Amino acid sequence: MFENLTAAEPDKILALIGMYKADPRAEKLDLGVGIYKDKAGNTPIMRSVQKAQTQLVQTQTTKAYLGLDGDRAFNHKIAKIALGDDYDTDRIRTLQTPGGSGALRIIAELLTQTQDNATIWVSDPTWANHIPVMKASGLIIKTYPYFDAKTGLVRFDAMMETLKTIPSGDIILLHGCCHNPTGANLTLDQWKQVGEVLVERNIKPFVDIAYQGFGDGLHEDAAGLRHLASVVPEMVVALSCSKNFAVYCDRVGAAIIMGKNAEQADIAMGVLKGCARKSYSMPPNHGAAAVRMILEDEALKADWLEELESMRLRMLSLRTGLADALRQQSNSDRFDFIATHRGMFSRLGLSPDEVEWLRTEHGIYIVGDSRINVAGLPDDGLDDLATKIVAAINQ
Ligand code: LMR
Repeated sequence: MFENLTAAEPDKILALIGMYKADPRAEKLDLGVGIYKDKAGNTPIMRSVQKAQTQLVQTQTTKAYLGLDGDRAFNHKIAKIALGDDYDTDRIRTLQTPGGSGALRIIAELLTQTQDNATIWVSDPTWANHIPVMKASGLIIKTYPYFDAKTGLVRFDAMMETLKTIPSGDIILLHGCCHNPTGANLTLDQWKQVGEVLVERNIKPFVDIAYQGFGDGLHEDAAGLRHLASVVPEMVVALSCSKNFAVYCDRVGAAIIMGKNAEQADIAMGVLKGCARKSYSMPPNHGAAAVRMILEDEALKADWLEELESMRLRMLSLRTGLADALRQQSNSDRFDFIATHRGMFSRLGLSPDEVEWLRTEHGIYIVGDSRINVAGLPDDGLDDLATKIVAAINQ
């Protein structure tokens, strides 16, 4: 049965988890997979999530199926978080999914059914799993320029030039905030310029928002997405609660569809549910129910917002700390971009050999493209880390 298979290439990010675990060195450092860590290096359950799930197990009376929608109250509440309290309920539909990845996959499958040779344009670079998911769903992949590794900035002019050549009806995948892997983001003014081209050229936006609240703030991080929703006739959104509710392994996400009108939104949601049914069928309940309970309860919500904000501020101070340490150690402003980037990641601009050297010599685990997880940085070890990064460059 399996003799004709060839071995699969392991996922670059997930492979690092195994390598890190297997490394016996006490002073090893995990800056790989995107998981928030506190000062002690742990990924705690958020206070509000802990309280909500305790209440949930105490009050839950059945584990009967909820249906393809998942938790409908969760769907409505989470759409408000992403799109704002006054989102257009007439044209917008939401489906609970197993994580943001589940949403990406079923939306991509839906898009293949909207036209022959459906083509999606992704940023160069993009999250390591975007292209595999889109390809596996049957979409044709093209790329638009996004990141200048030398300056650490968005190549906005080059991006816009390419956008102006995208054929009518093609789809564009945009990171809602906290671009993964680069940490370089569009300003609201740039989102507006992008929106104009999308409308002019009839390009369909597909927004992936997985880090809302980790960049400039919960509402600020959704400003680009909300702007697009106010100007384009149709769009799709994949949303993840993994990071901002720290419910990684519970798999909580949502697929959002905005149609030209209510009738088209309903038809698209029906097809999307069919994609879910043919894949995982119904989403897991526990994590989404806990998120819903937080969003329904004023005190729990306030506590969640406070903890989320403290996580965001911690990442910002780690950014400034590492940029300062690297400025001193390298005697240059080469790494200043780390302080201006937002979200969980930045790309250091190291070569694969330099990344490999940090791992073998010092047990520092960074994704091969030199992406670091800012939340994994050691509060008290930034100077030491900066010394090693500079040594990697100079070896
Ligand atoms: C990451 O980019 O590290 C996270 O989104 C986790 C993952 O699934 O890759």
